Amino acid sequence: MAFDPLQERGVPLDEQVRDWRELDVTPIDADRCDPYTRCRIITMNGIEVEAIMFSHHLARHCQDQEIRRQLARVRSIEAQQQKAVNWLLPGSASVLETTIAYEQVAVDLTAWVARMEPDAYLRQAYEFGVLEDFDHLYRYANLYEMIEHRKAEKIVDQLTEVMPGRPTYLHHRDPVDNVREPYDRRRTEPLSRLHALTVMSAEQQTMNFYMNVGPMYMEPIARQLYQEIGLVEEEHVTHYESLVDPGESWWEMLLNHEYNECYLYYSFMETESDPKVKNIWELHLNMELEHLRLAAELFKRHDGRDPDQVLAPALPPPVTFEPNKQYVRDLLATRIDHTTLGTGYVQEAHERFEKMQEAIMGGEKAPSERVVDDNRAITGMEYRLETEGPHPAGLRLR
Ligand SMILES: [Fe+2]
Ligand SMILES: [Fe+2]
Ligand SMILES: [Fe+2]
Ligand SMILES: [Fe+2]
Repeated sequence: MAFDPLQERGVPLDEQVRDWRELDVTPIDADRCDPYTRCRIITMNGIEVEAIMFSHHLARHCQDQEIRRQLARVRSIEAQQQKAVNWLLPGSASVLETTIAYEQVAVDLTAWVARMEPDAYLRQAYEFGVLEDFDHLYRYANLYEMIEHRKAEKIVDQLTEVMPGRPTYLHHRDPVDNVREPYDRRRTEPLSRLHALTVMSAEQQTMNFYMNVGPMYMEPIARQLYQEIGLVEEEHVTHYESLVDPGESWWEMLLNHEYNECYLYYSFMETESDPKVKNIWELHLNMELEHLRLAAELFKRHDGRDPDQVLAPALPPPVTFEPNKQYVRDLLATRIDHTTLGTGYVQEAHERFEKMQEAIMGGEKAPSERVVDDNRAITGMEYRLETEGPHPAGLRLR
């Protein structure tokens, strides 16, 4: 039966506060967990971080003391949810192991969204971006083998392939070429709004993560690689956030945020393999239903419309973490040499693009190239995980 979060009853707000013992959840087992459980945790952490930061921004633009208090109450719950979710990650994983999982999220979440996206222009944005995070995964996997002497399949299992995508040194575009055309809020499918918000939030958390953890390594190549890819993640946030219609009112944006939280918790509850983690998704869904009800009230009062005018009549099919190997391979075969020009995509390296390359590289090899060379020099061969045959764009293993 279709699940309509606007029709469901949640947990009353004053019953949502948990004490610290409840928030101090038992983490998943890094060696035995389903890699996609870890991906769902990383995704939901990004969603909650966005919920918190969006609410802060809204509060800073809000003159009504009563609304500011209500925002503060809901936000404190989002902050608790973020703790419960992110603390599911085990302390035994290294920063680099978590990094590899972040890029696995970027690959399989973005590929799934692209496959489900009804709008051709938006789909193109996801198909473009996914080839870059796919390449990041390969660069970090080589760093991992080189400095931690382990193989990335320990983390991604056989679910996501690891091989070159669009080479990372070609991701450094002129900032103006990272701004896409937004969807039209009056015409777009409700699902497209949710997709844009989900991928934007995931990329934003990846950016935040690299900004913070990048300098935690001593090895110069690791510090440099995090710097380089950290810059690219900022471009990705620009790319994806620019898809969202900036004409949405604050109340409409709030409504979309809470609805999307319901959608994702519901999706993950439906698809989770770890029963303990599933319980958290279910509990948080029941909290979000009440956040959504409160946001819908604000929307009705201050935007003047009915939530049914902007939201789907029921939740779309669940967001699912599953292998997207063939889909990514098809993109590798056809889009690997694309870049952006203005709000569109081109195949040639235009002048503005090349200028940026020079400015960032200063005539030297990028860390993302050196990390593979260095690993090859030490271990005899670069790291790849090609489970479905040779590279579809003919980039041979060396
Ligand atoms: Fe939340
Ligand atoms: Fe990435
Ligand atoms: Fe990214
Ligand atoms: Fe929420």
